Amino acid sequence: MIDKISTLGGYIHEYQKSVENPQAFWSRIAESFFWRKKWDKILDWNFIEPKINWFLNGKLNITENIFERHLFTRGDQPAIIWEPNEPNDENRVLSYNELFLEVKKFTNVMLNLGVGKGDRVAIYMPMVPELAIAMLACARIGAIHSIVFAGFSANSLADRINDAEAKLVITSDGGYRGSKIIPIKDIVDEALENCSSVEKVVMVQRTNTEVSFDESRDMWWHEAMAKADEENKAELMDAEDTLFILYTSGSTDKPKGIVHTCGGYMVYSAYTFKNVFQYSDGDIYFCSADIGWITGHSYIVYGPLLNGATTVMFEGIPTYPDAGRYWDIVNKYGIAQFYTAPTAIRSLISMGQEYVENKDLSSLKVLGTVGEPINEEAWHWYHDHVGKNRCPIVDTWWQTETGGISISPIAGIIPTKPGFATLPQPGIQPIIVDGDGNELSGKSVEGNLCIKYPWPGMLRTIWGDHERFKKTYFSTFENLYFSGDGVKRDEDGYYRILGRVDDVINVSGHRMGTAEVENAINEHPLVNESAVVGFPHDIKGQGIYAFVVCGDLSTGGEEGIKTSVRKGVTKIIGPIAKPDKIQLVRALPKTRSGKIMRRILRKIAQGDYSNFGDISTLLDTSVVEEIIKGALEDV
Ligand code: WTA
Repeated sequence: MIDKISTLGGYIHEYQKSVENPQAFWSRIAESFFWRKKWDKILDWNFIEPKINWFLNGKLNITENIFERHLFTRGDQPAIIWEPNEPNDENRVLSYNELFLEVKKFTNVMLNLGVGKGDRVAIYMPMVPELAIAMLACARIGAIHSIVFAGFSANSLADRINDAEAKLVITSDGGYRGSKIIPIKDIVDEALENCSSVEKVVMVQRTNTEVSFDESRDMWWHEAMAKADEENKAELMDAEDTLFILYTSGSTDKPKGIVHTCGGYMVYSAYTFKNVFQYSDGDIYFCSADIGWITGHSYIVYGPLLNGATTVMFEGIPTYPDAGRYWDIVNKYGIAQFYTAPTAIRSLISMGQEYVENKDLSSLKVLGTVGEPINEEAWHWYHDHVGKNRCPIVDTWWQTETGGISISPIAGIIPTKPGFATLPQPGIQPIIVDGDGNELSGKSVEGNLCIKYPWPGMLRTIWGDHERFKKTYFSTFENLYFSGDGVKRDEDGYYRILGRVDDVINVSGHRMGTAEVENAINEHPLVNESAVVGFPHDIKGQGIYAFVVCGDLSTGGEEGIKTSVRKGVTKIIGPIAKPDKIQLVRALPKTRSGKIMRRILRKIAQGDYSNFGDISTLLDTSVVEEIIKGALEDV
């Protein structure tokens, strides 16, 4: 078992050790896991190629560290508590024994379909226990799961399936989200029209809605499971074998398939879970994320289960049946640690105090946030009204790429400060550099957030594109991992994340590449070109503002075009990418060399119509005046 850091002095000591001798440090942590064969060497790395290998030649299976390791002591303890969309429907509680049985059965379903080690399996599912079962079954047979958030469109799903060349898709007939039913299987059917690698589809019955069924390709989960053998021996995996791929948006091009590996990810997700949340035996932990995002991977499934924790998985949304749903769940199960996103907190604030005031939240010990900077108002509301001034808030900074929490308070141990992710986790060596890559050392500095030494949970490559991996993360600043975030280190040495410095916007805690949204807008037959920027949004943190140049406004008029542009983006990427504001413009502000001057558009989108700095390189300055005029009148 991983030892928890329990005092501030303990943190400082551990941190120092992790920097002075990272290899000895991680070796000690890794020894608390079950390896079928111990590693020969802890780490082999350089940030030039780049190459990052941890626990070389170590052999393991991550699911043996979840199941076999815990069964003697916790077989009957709940592993997953599943809370359905409808509060009055029956929940499901799966003990470690029961979850293990389901996982083993599903491994046999997949093996019978010819899916095995190294094959890719796409999972496109609502938040039902079968999602966790499917991912763990993949891990057990060494198949690589690629989970796609079920809010993405058919087109986005197809892109991800094709990039990974998935052989199998696991899905459901439909999914409940508040009062809506999402036609999951229809979306899969549409996606699969363009996916030649997929041989089989396994479908969970959830909504009992009518769906099309292709006898040669589709099968029902429950039918396959009813016949499945209950025994399975875990596949022997190398520490550096791929555990999963998870796609995330970048500033250019298509989403990137972030690759995580079995050994390092296991050690890092488990270690950070235990420490940051100060999980103790018997605690019931609830993370409200969707498993389709990295937060769900690391802190609903792997991190908690590797620690033998009880993790709550929630199918629905925070505002259904009313804005008190999270607090009802906290009360129903006696949640000790609750982890959510600032955007959810802000939307609950906007619904009014009454949903939280009268709830018994006395079980809570720790509150967490993730995904975007938390504004002070939301921090204080969370602290005062949810935590009743007695629960520490862990504002956790990390990324799909880092695999686990990287800069964050350790609950109750590192003193917090609103808006600050505070200090690095042991093993994380942040460095702030200016635009030229010079280190900004000391306190009270601001610049680009990089990390200078590898940690076990970091990504190893981009699926199928190592060159892009190198270019994206290791080429901006030599010999450093570049996060894409801006950061400030204050007079106490605390880190405050300032947001993305690249062309990625963070909408409700979800990353959207502006280029990706622009490409989707440009698909519209009447659109010539477009530029997308973020703007401050009260609930979402950042909203999407699109400046669009149309050739012809006669068809449908301005409003008609805006509506159809929004529809197009929803269809191509998904509802999360839908622009909040669209401004039709005659032209975009471009330099003489044809480059769009985005900083001007960002200012306009923020409602700041002055201080554009040097605009002498603009081809046509009247464009800026026109856009300002349009913005004032229009949006
Ligand atoms: C942002 C989510 C401020 C950041 C785990 C990062 C944050 C991106 C925080 C990664 C935080 C995440 N404070 N910003 N506590 N946590 N971010 O890959 O811009 O979905 O680069 O991973 O979210 O988003 P991703």
